[in-house]
Amino acid sequence: MRKVLLTGDRPSGQLHLGHYVGSLKSRLALQDSGDYDCFILIADVQALTDNFKNPQKVRDNVLEVALDYLAVGLDPARTTLAIQSLVRALPELTVYYLNLVTLARLERNPTVKSEIDQKGFGASIPAGFLCYPVSQAADITFCKANVVPVGADQRPMLEQTREIVRTFNSIYGEVLVEPEALVPEGESESRLPGTTGNDTKMSKSLGNAIYLADDADTLRAKVRQMYTDPTHLKVNDPGHVEGNTVFTYLDVFATDKAAVADLKEHYRRGGLGDVKVKDYLFEVLNAELEPIRSRRADLARDLGYVLDILAQGSEYANQVADGTLAEVRSAMRIDYFKDGAA
Ligand code: TRP
Repeated sequence: MRKVLLTGDRPSGQLHLGHYVGSLKSRLALQDSGDYDCFILIADVQALTDNFKNPQKVRDNVLEVALDYLAVGLDPARTTLAIQSLVRALPELTVYYLNLVTLARLERNPTVKSEIDQKGFGASIPAGFLCYPVSQAADITFCKANVVPVGADQRPMLEQTREIVRTFNSIYGEVLVEPEALVPEGESESRLPGTTGNDTKMSKSLGNAIYLADDADTLRAKVRQMYTDPTHLKVNDPGHVEGNTVFTYLDVFATDKAAVADLKEHYRRGGLGDVKVKDYLFEVLNAELEPIRSRRADLARDLGYVLDILAQGSEYANQVADGTLAEVRSAMRIDYFKDGAA
């Protein structure tokens, strides 16, 4: 049997370079390997758990994320792209799984804990937010995913899903499949810094992100403003390459490693200005982003096509999920009318 792969994103903003190096590139490689049945969920229901007062933002970003996916080369012929809220079995599975986790276990999830701190919920934590890892277990199990490529911050979700699967199977019988997390190994793959310095992760909320959709002028301006070496005041001063975000990016994106080694050597010695290095980085990034940007612009002129892909992908995911739901209901002894009448 072919293995099943599922992953997803919350549509709370456009995708940026951090997503590109951290997850999109590896998804493309996994898709192109041909080894998996691939599903990618645009997790609008999950995005609503912390944006429930902002439905339009979530709605708009469903389309933005879909455009980003297609622009980087995710191929609907090989990867099912689905909108979470259109997979109708998911909330039902979530309700059954909620019996299999304790409140204490939910409160211990380290990723949810740090998000709660960040978002300043204080004592007013929405129940839906605390429970989103359970709904994520439904996402992962509806298609019996074997592998889930995610960033390191998602490991606790996979752990929780695995526990739910084990508990479900031990009570009701072997129906669900225990998934494995596929987490990138290298630091550069898992965490691209933002433009403001190596200590901060690229993120929309920090305002330090370069988006896949940014035009060339915006890209140039963002690169020109990138954090470099605060001690490199005059061109002739010796400069530091470590901790210098421009060089961190060159290490990640530049293919001509010898040219980068020369730039580093010159920068350390003194006599190489920041603007020169930044202009080189701009060329490197622009070469990578230009084809993505132009495909994205073409797709944005044909939204009907993009919506069709989402409708078809969601319908297929829906069918697969209904199959799993029927097995779950039968295992749980709530399959009263076998013909599916209720
Ligand atoms: N929680 C993930 C994130 O914040 C998004 C997500 C939703 C997801 N459902 C998923 C990831 C299922 C993997 C599998 O990025």
